[in-house]
Amino acid sequence: MTYETIIHETNAQGHDGVSLITLNRPKALNALSSQVLADLTCAFAGYNSDDSQRCLVLTGSGEKAFAAGADIKEMSDKPAADFYLDDFFAPWTSEVVKKTRKPWIAAVNGFALGGGCELAMMADFIIASDNAKFGQPEINLGVAPGMGGSQRLTRAIGKSKAMEMCLTGRMMGAEEAERANLVVRVVPQADLLADALKTAATIASKPPMAAIANKEMVNAAFEMTLDQGLIMERRIFQILTASEDKQEGMAAFIEKREGQWKGR
Ligand code: CAA
Repeated sequence: MTYETIIHETNAQGHDGVSLITLNRPKALNALSSQVLADLTCAFAGYNSDDSQRCLVLTGSGEKAFAAGADIKEMSDKPAADFYLDDFFAPWTSEVVKKTRKPWIAAVNGFALGGGCELAMMADFIIASDNAKFGQPEINLGVAPGMGGSQRLTRAIGKSKAMEMCLTGRMMGAEEAERANLVVRVVPQADLLADALKTAATIASKPPMAAIANKEMVNAAFEMTLDQGLIMERRIFQILTASEDKQEGMAAFIEKREGQWKGR
């Protein structure tokens, strides 16, 4: 399938089971227009329904930006009533994130600002290039984050730092983002995609149902009390013991061989 604003590849660069989506509006620093949303929604739906694909990497084209935010030119003349009546930005969280049960990684290669930072934070984790810059600069435009920045950034890096970033609109460099636990690691820009695809390939090689379950459990930690989360964790563990992949995984360990997964 071809798209106007993104490139979607399966089994990317020879990595079996790994999809790659590249935001492809480099002249606009990959700004997130409504066409990008439509294209991403479609591509993620394709990923979700394709059992052969087990992990996905999202990155930006060009060396400057992952995404420099929602498309300001598209928003500048839009009447407030339309933002409200269209529930503007709602599909970013409901379509792209909630319906994606399989793992995905954001490979941030430059600016990740406003909606770009928010989109990266929707991923299961972020790997950053050494020139990555994160920020929620919406205050400079007379608005505030609208795709989860005030909530996800605060959960990721804590209130003080998130508050300072939202109030000043300053950008956080890659090293600071790693220290603040916003990203898992920083790699040289030239190595970013290879690193992210290799990590995705590792995830894609694991039992796929267990991968979905592990993701569901970690995400539940943000939604539940400790007691509720511990119960959910035990129940999912117990359910997984009924899977064919549990039989295979434990047999493979004992027989000192690689597991052959069925995803069931
Ligand atoms: N929307 C639309 N176009 C954008 C854009 C955006 N968010 N960010 C950059 N562009 C465009 C620029 O208008 C410019 O286009 P032209 O060549 O046609 O003028 C092109 O991309 C290159 O940008 P710059 O010339 O500005 O590049 P720079 O290197 O001088 O600066 C930058 C880079 C600091 C990232 C700067 O582009 C910038 O500040 N961008 C806006 C960042 C921002 O405010 N993001 C938040 C948007 S609101 C939002 O996201 C709300 C939300 O919560 C979802």
